[in-house]
Amino acid sequence: MITDERQVDRLQVQHHLFRTLWGGNFCSPIAEELRAGGSYVLDVGCGPGTWICDMATDFPNSNFTGVDIVTTFPTERPRNVTFKNGGVITGLPFPDNTFDFVHMSSKVLYFTEAEWRTKIVVELVRVLKPGGYLELEDGDGECYNMNMNPFIVQQIEEIMVSSGLINIRHREVVIPIGNWGGNLGVLMVDLVGSLFYGLRDKITNQMKIRPKDFDRILETCKNELDVYKTYAKSYRFYAMKA
Ligand SMILES: C[S@@+](CC[C@H](N)C(=O)[O-])C[C@H]1O[C@@H](n2cnc3c(N)ncnc32)[C@H](O)[C@@H]1O
Repeated sequence: MITDERQVDRLQVQHHLFRTLWGGNFCSPIAEELRAGGSYVLDVGCGPGTWICDMATDFPNSNFTGVDIVTTFPTERPRNVTFKNGGVITGLPFPDNTFDFVHMSSKVLYFTEAEWRTKIVVELVRVLKPGGYLELEDGDGECYNMNMNPFIVQQIEEIMVSSGLINIRHREVVIPIGNWGGNLGVLMVDLVGSLFYGLRDKITNQMKIRPKDFDRILETCKNELDVYKTYAKSYRFYAMKA
């Protein structure tokens, strides 16, 4: 759960970094509609709401909603943004066919493969209007032994097809991690370091290792980033509800 300030800061930096990497906040062909105004946009699992507030600033004539099970919502927000407490597994607190654009990012570590297949995409499609777009952004993550599939991104297109979506598209970008990747690579070292540091207690308990051994391993990993030219990938999938 993202509750402490350090993790909120990490998500905010990550948002701006990913926006730069991708050259924008989304890939779906909906910019003109959003600019014209009157559209309804939902960000599911919005965390501190950085994406939804950024979108609301870019498109002041449309309406934006962020929903999350944890309420780390900002107190200051653009006037066209609202936040709601709620979850995608228990059922989103919105009627069918409400939104023109539904967005969800960074969830690979949150849902099991079975949930992705039977609940998540189906629920996102439920609140989407016919003709509206669903966009999912994620990376691959290491999360073995938790009934999760760290490579769920490889299944997303198939899940979208079986959820009745059409015009499915897929894009990906490479994200360098380490000095070898210039300023972006250096920023990513901080981001990934802070992600692992946030998981320090969990990992040391689960792996039964001492915190100081964890720190040593993390330092060794950092030193190897430039040797192996380490990188991550970010994926976006977008599709229309028929
Ligand atoms: C890694 S954060 C990403 C936040 C935001 N999308 C971003 O990229 O900055 C994942 C978020 O998903 C939320 N989340 C986890 N399970 C959820 C669920 N079942 N329904 C809605 N949100 C959920 C968490 O509370 C957390 O805020």
